[in-house]
Amino acid sequence: MSAAEVYSPGLEGIIAGETAVSTVEEGLRYRGYPVVELAEKTGFDEVAYLLLHGELPTGPQLAEFQKRIGAARKIPQPLRDLLRALPRSTAPMDALRSAVSVLAHFDSEAGDSSQGANARKAERLLGQIPVAVADQFRLSKGLPLVPARADLPHAANFLYMVRGTEPSAAEVRAFDVSLILYAEHEFNASTFAARVICSTESDLHSSIVGAIGALKGRLHGGANEKVMDIVRAAGGPQTAEKWIRDALARKERIMGFGHRVYKSGDVRARVLKDYARKAAVATGQTKWEETAEIIEQVMEREKNLLPNLDWPAGRLYHAMGLEVPLYTPIFVMSRVAGWSAHVIEQLDHNRLIRPRARYTGPAVRAVKALNARG
Ligand SMILES: CC(C)(COP(=O)(O)OP(=O)(O)OC[C@H]1O[C@@H](n2cnc3c(N)ncnc32)[C@H](O)[C@@H]1OP(=O)(O)O)[C@@H](O)C(=O)NCCC(=O)NCCS
Repeated sequence: MSAAEVYSPGLEGIIAGETAVSTVEEGLRYRGYPVVELAEKTGFDEVAYLLLHGELPTGPQLAEFQKRIGAARKIPQPLRDLLRALPRSTAPMDALRSAVSVLAHFDSEAGDSSQGANARKAERLLGQIPVAVADQFRLSKGLPLVPARADLPHAANFLYMVRGTEPSAAEVRAFDVSLILYAEHEFNASTFAARVICSTESDLHSSIVGAIGALKGRLHGGANEKVMDIVRAAGGPQTAEKWIRDALARKERIMGFGHRVYKSGDVRARVLKDYARKAAVATGQTKWEETAEIIEQVMEREKNLLPNLDWPAGRLYHAMGLEVPLYTPIFVMSRVAGWSAHVIEQLDHNRLIRPRARYTGPAVRAVKALNARG
């Protein structure tokens, strides 16, 4: 390898491209806006518009955007039939990966990768993904489907479809904040996967399908489905300290802690923690929050590891009564905005992403004919 060639396992610390969508420098910012401020002052629909269209919307722009997404809240009947035909044990995240692939077949602009078509397809996916998730969830439980509501924002519509009843304002706000915090995160694994795929001049749906596959893993978005396993395994506030110490001694990985980039804490986790706590207090069940608090303290003291966003998100969704296998699909229904913004940006000045590898295989050797190989 020449001096100019750099090798960093897992591409750690490598600048792999340029982006104007977001930065993790000096605290996470989406298109210049600190995410903490966006979580305080805006809703997810505004943030999705910001990511896809570059600026926060005016009132009329937001109303038009919500109207378009509301109109897109439907999935073709063949997809619903497929969701019905899937084994009931199918994980919602796997069903969603298939669903987005099927949606491509019914999108008349699937093969058009112009900026305009990609923005329109991204908006349609924002409308369709929550419908696919809610329908598959209800079908797998043998529950009647709940039609989407075009008049509700993203967060409220999803909660309504999954549960069949209108959520409270506090629930919608907490869920909406989680979606804002999940919407975008620079060159994380799934976004990078999406950019790699579209850099070959493949299409938006293929990029999103690939990103879903990357997000699913427990080191990435799949971590939010593991959080309650950790908290429950700790047993309760009385047993938590011993449990977590033993788990660390066994060298177990504690899902919801640590981050490739943030080594001094994830600001998103701090924002969502309050919402998770309030949601638990509202249910009158704070045992798991108390347990989580002890785990947090021990993790910081013993390992200097701080929570990432998945840690409060898993607890918030649990306190809201949402079933665990929905948690990573919920991440998708938000992050699709960030992924799509990156695909559009990548194609604006595309260069095929094709790095090199350091070879560790055998030295050059001659091929023996089949009959000479014994
Ligand atoms: C996110 C993550 C993959 C980043 O990892 P990374 O940058 O590759 O860091 P490393 O895996 O090199 O970890 C560095 C050290 O911290 C430890 N560590 C990191 N995260 C840990 C965790 N969640 N639990 C226990 N130990 C952890 C590693 O074991 C390693 O210890 P060592 O040096 O004694 O071997 C990692 O922190 C992790 O697996 N977290 C849990 C999954 C998760 O929450 N993912 C969501 C991320 S937003």
